[in-house]
Amino acid sequence: MGSNTGIDLRVDPDKCQGHARCSALAPELFQLDEFGNARERLRSCFDPALIERAYVARANCPEEAIIVSER
Ligand code: F3S
Repeated sequence: MGSNTGIDLRVDPDKCQGHARCSALAPELFQLDEFGNARERLRSCFDPALIERAYVARANCPEEAIIVSER
């Protein structure tokens, strides 16, 4: 983990069931596709406020479909 910490962000399309909590909690990071499943708006992120929201979204996804990894 470096001092210039950022994250990589992914939605696992096999796990996402369209609960839409991620797009409600972090619309800057997630959008819903035509089937109502989440897609990442950003694949990587360095803004601390957005990183915080990514973790909140991950914690609120009932399917554990959101993958956040530190860069
Ligand atoms: Fe899918 Fe979870 Fe969002 S199920 S729509 S990634 S809250």
